[in-house]
Amino acid sequence: MLVTGGSGGIGGATARLLAAEGADVVVHYHHGRERAEAIGAEIGARVAGADLTDEAQVARLFDEAGELDACAAIAGVWPQADEPVWRLSLERWRATLDANLTATFLTARGFLAQLGDREGALVLCGSTAGLVGEAGHADYAAAKAAITGGLLRSLKNEAVRRNPHCRVNAVAPGWTESPMTRGHVDPEMVRRISRTMALRKVGQPEDVAAAVVTLLSPALSGHVTGQVVTVAGGMEGRVIHDDEA
Ligand SMILES: NC(=O)c1ccc[n+]([C@@H]2O[C@H](COP(=O)([O-])OP(=O)(O)OC[C@H]3O[C@@H](n4cnc5c(N)ncnc54)[C@H](OP(=O)(O)O)[C@@H]3O)[C@@H](O)[C@H]2O)c1
Repeated sequence: MLVTGGSGGIGGATARLLAAEGADVVVHYHHGRERAEAIGAEIGARVAGADLTDEAQVARLFDEAGELDACAAIAGVWPQADEPVWRLSLERWRATLDANLTATFLTARGFLAQLGDREGALVLCGSTAGLVGEAGHADYAAAKAAITGGLLRSLKNEAVRRNPHCRVNAVAPGWTESPMTRGHVDPEMVRRISRTMALRKVGQPEDVAAAVVTLLSPALSGHVTGQVVTVAGGMEGRVIHDDEA
């Protein structure tokens, strides 16, 4: 099984949980080779690097990974700066779509192309930003909405052309403590962002990993495809203004 973004918080937790379930895991990284190698050593997994926005590197990654039954396409980038659309540069817009949507497309293509006659299970990674929007991050919200919308729903129907049992699902994490959100989840921030959440806490990478592994499992999710599992403590997309004005 391949976990893209295995060097990151959610991908790392997914790789650990898959290995604990007995899976033979390949931990993918981009810049974080050392983090990936540490996880690989811990769980007895191979590691493989690639920039997933680069077609040739993705092809090499799938060559190196060998025959895969399952893939968790977790890699993604959330640009931290809050930039409303009227200030958002075309450069950032393109880079964000590339690092999230294009990377997920190339991963899905690589995985399905190598599947042969194996059943196959693929999990994509969206975000609550893609479901309810995220002010200051329209580029990221649009990329994630495309992943859990048109891409997922098309892949779900295409995957069965590869194998009649092949399934494609997605997770949509809300705020999750990981390197991506480091510095953004102090207690005041948690109080503010949890105002539309039933569970007033940020998620842990393991919370998302559990949903990914459940969706990959043919035993637990054998008749589940095309679904988005939101892991966000019951978050809603309502706008709550700070004042009563
Ligand atoms: N944390 C949250 O609050 C949150 C909320 C909603 C959705 N998500 C989504 O969850 C996923 C995992 O995020 P995380 O929180 O675990 O963040 P993270 O710790 O920053 O991990 C991101 C991972 O993506 C990889 N990556 C980034 N750009 C890449 C590229 N061009 N090519 C290949 N790999 C690339 C990184 O590789 P290297 O580190 O090796 O460079 C890293 O492994 C992402 O898709 C993210 O959008 C996260």
